[in-house]
Amino acid sequence: MIRDLILKNRSYRRFDESAVMDESTLRDLVDLARHSPSGANLQGLKFILSWTPQKNAIIFPCLRWAGYLKDWGGPEAGERPAGYIILLGDTDISKNFGVDHGIACQSMLLGAVEKGFGGCIFGSVRRDELRKQLDIPEQYEILLVLALGKPVEQVMVDEVGADGSIKYWRDEQAVHHVPKRALDDLIL
Ligand SMILES: Cc1cc2nc3c(=O)[nH]c(=O)nc-3n(C[C@H](O)[C@H](O)[C@H](O)COP(=O)(O)O)c2cc1C
Repeated sequence: MIRDLILKNRSYRRFDESAVMDESTLRDLVDLARHSPSGANLQGLKFILSWTPQKNAIIFPCLRWAGYLKDWGGPEAGERPAGYIILLGDTDISKNFGVDHGIACQSMLLGAVEKGFGGCIFGSVRRDELRKQLDIPEQYEILLVLALGKPVEQVMVDEVGADGSIKYWRDEQAVHHVPKRALDDLIL
């Protein structure tokens, strides 16, 4: 069960933008993050939710999509995320958020997949622009952005090939391939 969910939880970057993501779905996902582990139980993460076309349109250009796909600038209109969760660190609570935001993202992604959605984590974010556009106070460090929607792309996990490349790529049918290292190569 958990294995199925984790295997299905790929990074999806093309969505059916007409499949609406509402506030209550996003709140449910944040509630999963709330119940996730937190270093020293400080719980310094805060979240900004977006599910309206207007706010989504502000966040979209602040993300850098699929760095390895050099000839692809991100999803076209109609295939863009239907919602976002911006993960912030509240510096009034802590100055160092450790790995809390990564754990929170994975919890929320697994919850999204279980609900029939999917998404992608963004660490490559135009932070200054996002802060300005959404008027995010300096008290909050912008950590990660989670883009969410109903995936329309097929993603395949492959084993890393003889050339050793870990770069994801797309084939002629626009299937997205993600090379993963073999289990025996990970365990020392
Ligand atoms: C911390 C973190 C930051 C990431 N940042 C980006 C990003 O800025 N842009 C992007 O397109 N994908 C981003 N990704 C997605 C990775 O590219 C993706 O996880 C990787 O290619 C493996 O694919 P998979 O998630 O399907 O296993 C990020 C993933 C993580 C965990």
